[in-house]
This record gives sequence, C-alpha cells and structure tokens, in this order.
Amino acid sequence: MGNKAVSYAGAGKVEVIDTPYPEFILRDGPGVHPDNIGRQVNHGVIIKTVATNICGSDQHMVRGRTTAPQGLVLGHEITGEVVEVGRDVEFLKVGDMISVPFNISCGRCRNCKVGQTGICLNVNPDRPGSAYGYVDMGGWVGGQAEYVLVPYADWNALKFPDRDQAMEKILDLAMLADIFPTGFHGAVGAGVTVGSTVYVAGAGPVGLAAATAAQLLGAAVVIVGDLNEDRLAQARSFGCETVNVSLGDPAAQIEQILGVPEVDCGIDAVGFEARGHGHDAGKEQPATVLNSLMEITRAGGSLGIPGLYVTGDPGAEDEAARVGSLSMRFGLGFAKSHTFVTGQCPVMKYNRGLMQAILNDKVSIAKNVNASTISLDKAPEGYAAFDAGAAQKFVLDPHGLIRA
Ligand SMILES: NC(=O)c1ccc[n+]([C@@H]2O[C@H](COP(=O)([O-])OP(=O)(O)OC[C@H]3O[C@@H](n4cnc5c(N)ncnc54)[C@H](O)[C@@H]3O)[C@@H](O)[C@H]2O)c1
Ligand SMILES: [Zn+2]
Ligand SMILES: [Zn+2]
Repeated sequence: MGNKAVSYAGAGKVEVIDTPYPEFILRDGPGVHPDNIGRQVNHGVIIKTVATNICGSDQHMVRGRTTAPQGLVLGHEITGEVVEVGRDVEFLKVGDMISVPFNISCGRCRNCKVGQTGICLNVNPDRPGSAYGYVDMGGWVGGQAEYVLVPYADWNALKFPDRDQAMEKILDLAMLADIFPTGFHGAVGAGVTVGSTVYVAGAGPVGLAAATAAQLLGAAVVIVGDLNEDRLAQARSFGCETVNVSLGDPAAQIEQILGVPEVDCGIDAVGFEARGHGHDAGKEQPATVLNSLMEITRAGGSLGIPGLYVTGDPGAEDEAARVGSLSMRFGLGFAKSHTFVTGQCPVMKYNRGLMQAILNDKVSIAKNVNASTISLDKAPEGYAAFDAGAAQKFVLDPHGLIRA
C-alpha cells in the first residue's frame, strides 16, 4: 500500500509524492538522523489522517530559511483515526480518533515527567525536542500524508470521547495538535488573566489562536498587530482591537486604544522572520517584535514568545542572524524585570482542557482562525496562498472525510 504525502522540494516548492506506508520502525529517509535509523517503534500506532494543517512553522522550511533537506515529508499538525496498533501499545484501539501533539515525546525522561514535552530528551539524537516532519527534529516522518506513524502512542495521543461528536467539530479539534495550545501557552506565558490588557504581535493563525486564548482567560482588551490588513480584519471579526504596524511602532496606536502606550502582557506570534515597523515594514528585522514587546509591556510583565527563533538561518540578511544571534535590547527587558517564556509549546499541558472547551461550545477556534479545508493534492496551492498572507488556516483532508 502506498502513502501520498506532501514533501519539501527545494526553496519555494512543495509537491505531493508517493511515499512508503508507515511501519513500526523508523527507516532512513530525508532528514532522518543516522542514530534514529532502525529505531523500533512498537509503542506506536499508525493513523489514517483525517485532518493535517499547514503551519507557519512549515513555511520557514519551505521558504528555504532552514537546512531542511529536499524530499522531507512535511506536517506536524495531525488528527486521525487509529488503524494499526504496535505490539507494545496497551490502551489505544483501532477506530479511536485522536489528536496528536506536534511534539514527539517519550513520557519517560526527566523533562517529560514534569510536563516539558517540547524538550523531551529521548526522541531526537541532536538536541532536546522533536516534531513530525521537521528539520533537525530527529527525522520522524511528517503527517501531511494519508497515513502516519505516531510513536509512544499511549502517552502522546489525546483520544476524543466520541467519533461522531469529534467529526462534527473536526475543524476545531484539528487545532489542538498545535496552534490552539501554542497560542494558549503564549497567553499563559505572558501572564494573561482576568482583566489583562494584551498585545499580540502577528495575526497569523498562531496570533489569532493566542488572541482567542487571551479572551478565554478573561483579558479585558486584546490588541492584535500585523501589517496584513486581511489578517487584522480576521482578528476584528471576533472582537479584537487591531494595530497596523506598517503605520509605525505599535505603542502610539496602543495609546489611542487604551489611553496608555503600554499593555500588561505581550505575546510574540511572529518569530525570526519579523518585518520592521513603519518605514521598515518592507524589510526583515528579526529582533523587531522582541524589542517592541519590551518597550510596550509593563515593568514586571511577561513576554510569551511562541514565535519561532532558530539556531541557524541560511537565508538571514546578516552574519549574526545566520547563527540566530539577534540585535536584542536585552538591557531594556532587564531594567523592566521582564520574564521571557520561549520554546516549543508543551501541547500536552493544554490540549485536554482546550478539547473540553471546544466540545462544550465555549470557544470557536476554527472560525476565529478561518479554518479552510482543501484536499491533499491541493497542498501546493494552499502553501502558496498561505505564504502570500491569506487570512486562512489551511486544513488538508487527505481522505475526503471532512468534506464528506
Ligand atoms: N513555539 C511553538 O511551539 C510554535 C508552534 C507553532 C508555530 N510557531 C511559530 O509561531 C509563529 C507564527 O506562526 P503562524 O502560523 O501564525 O505564522 P504566519 O507566518 O502565518 O504569521 C506570522 C504573521 O506575522 C506578521 N508579522 C511580521 N512581522 C510583524 C511585526 N513586526 N509585527 C506584527 N506582525 C508581524 C506576518 O505578516 C504574518 O501575518 C511562527 O514563527 C511559527 O513558526 C511556534
Ligand atoms: Zn504548527
Ligand atoms: Zn521524554
């Protein structure tokens, strides 16, 4: 049996290719770490993918901004139905519908034991932390495919209580694999609570998920900044205030909204491909968002930073940024006693609670991020539209189950 999948085909290109159907062993392939070749995965399940989303994190690779090898099968936002269980799986069964956290974690190491599943020590021979279909993440095969292997499945999977109920809310539940927990983690990291004023940099899907999370947590005012007007309109559609950073630094526009040029909580949902503000909006300035959050976040406040920063960026504009060194005004953050919360989101910390919020109609995450379903074959078009700034979160539907 084959397995159609989306793969990275060099800078600016993805293609739909035929790949092998998964087995309970990690085979050599593009991006697979040599020490992971031959790894037995009897603790895994194979799932039939029901929904698998395109993410801004994929775009960094597809834009040629990482060292991702050609042929890498993409996709880390995976929801599906268990079709085979490995020998060592105890509790999952064929037919279970699950959400798969994008972090792969073992459940056995010291970090997993305290819930830091984004920096598991046992799944990536290169460094702590791993994910499906991602450069430098150990080589686990991506899930923008008809079928995918999920390791340590009893530990990693979040099982939905009921299949029919899950299919009714599948576009909302599909956001549990990454962006909803990630946005929520950004808001929690920024210290959002009842009555907070919040600035979210970035109105991409992660920024919109962070804004949604801030509302769920009881924020008084949520302000979203971007330079993409369509995405700002999407933020306004569910009650956010907005600022257009191409008009200048957010501080002045925040003052017009709040009466002070300051917020309680700052969230970076942009990352290292940040554009400058005002006249600099046409160029990339990787430290812009971090510096502006330090400026506008109150002394004693926290910065939640889900936006991705890298240790190597072959496409960076200067030598320092090529190794991930940014021109950050850290002294300002120190002077204001800021807390910085960075890193991969430990999805498992939040996904169950957010699932309950979805199933009990407390939040409409799919609507807020404008989830849009397309077939697997249309992935190249989805990537191109997302890259061009469409105010949409693309959900691939490899088996036509969502459209049906
Ligand atoms: N930490 C994690 O676990 C995690 C998980 C998922 C995604 N991410 C990262 O989160 C970031 C956002 O993801 P996404 O899918 O929403 O990506 P995206 O590329 O769709 O959105 C980024 C948005 O930021 C805007 N932007 C650029 N410069 C800006 C600035 N100076 N101020 C305000 N907005 C600006 C862009 O116009 C764009 O709309 C990415 O870096 C992604 O890799 C991290
Ligand atoms: Zn993602
Ligand atoms: Zn672990």
